[in-house]
Amino acid sequence: MLDVEQFIEAILDAFPPGVSAHAVRINAIDPSSICMPPEIIRSVEKRRREFAAGRICAQTALVLQGEKCSAIGIGPLRAPIWPPGFVGSISHSCGLAAAVVAKTQLFASLGIDVEMVSLVASSLESGGLVGTPVEYALLSPALGVDHALPALFSAKEALFKCLAPSVGAYFDFLDVEAVAIEGSKIGIRLKRQLGLHPVGEVINVKVTLFAGAVLACTWLHEHHAFPGRDFYVDKPLHTHCTGTTPIGK
Ligand SMILES: CC(C)(COP(=O)(O)OP(=O)(O)OC[C@H]1O[C@@H](n2cnc3c(N)ncnc32)[C@H](O)[C@@H]1OP(=O)(O)O)[C@@H](O)C(=O)NCCC(=O)NCCS
Repeated sequence: MLDVEQFIEAILDAFPPGVSAHAVRINAIDPSSICMPPEIIRSVEKRRREFAAGRICAQTALVLQGEKCSAIGIGPLRAPIWPPGFVGSISHSCGLAAAVVAKTQLFASLGIDVEMVSLVASSLESGGLVGTPVEYALLSPALGVDHALPALFSAKEALFKCLAPSVGAYFDFLDVEAVAIEGSKIGIRLKRQLGLHPVGEVINVKVTLFAGAVLACTWLHEHHAFPGRDFYVDKPLHTHCTGTTPIGK
């Protein structure tokens, strides 16, 4: 079972300064502790619990950014609706929920995904829907044959969460391809235009392997929201935080 504190540390290590993160064990959460939209109230207990856990993480990460604890609605394509001035991302798996949040002054978007290796391997036996033989051949030597599929799957899910709010539509796993790997960083190239992002753009996703789980984190800096416009941050906010204790990094 993943350790919550180690997991938060891994998330914060993956993201650059300016991102706050929180994670909780899902079964420690009381679903009635947050206000739920009608579609979630009607869901099964497991869904109510994971939704509540994700929202509690997101609200805590917002508070760590200095924002008040506000409700986070459900937007188009199921994306969370962040308060004005903030972006973020939520994932729940392996008994944990996690969320990351940052200010729009620094980041255009964030994406986080957690997957259980055995679940991805058993539900996507061939892996052909997620990537091509060329992508697996690229990733397997670095990640190991058993982790190549879950890592590729998780990396593309994180990328989807990061891009979907601006693209405004679903896109396919095979619309993007892994073209490079350097340490924990997988370069993923767009094979078709996605919103304002042109064919050929490469976006990095960081993957962290745990025993039985994979974490994928990605982000777009603010200037990605305005292609062609330079944007420099000379004083990045150092708001990496775990729990409620900011750690300057
Ligand atoms: C949305 C999706 C990525 C969720 O991933 P998952 O592994 O099933 O579940 P996770 O727990 O990691 O993430 C769920 C959270 O993602 C967030 N999410 C869902 N849709 C989203 C979207 N369109 N944009 C941003 N975030 C989204 C939500 O916060 C959700 O939790 P919530 O419903 O409790 O708020 C997945 O279900 C999906 O629809 N995939 C199809 C599209 C895709 O991945 N294409 C591949 C492109 S390369």
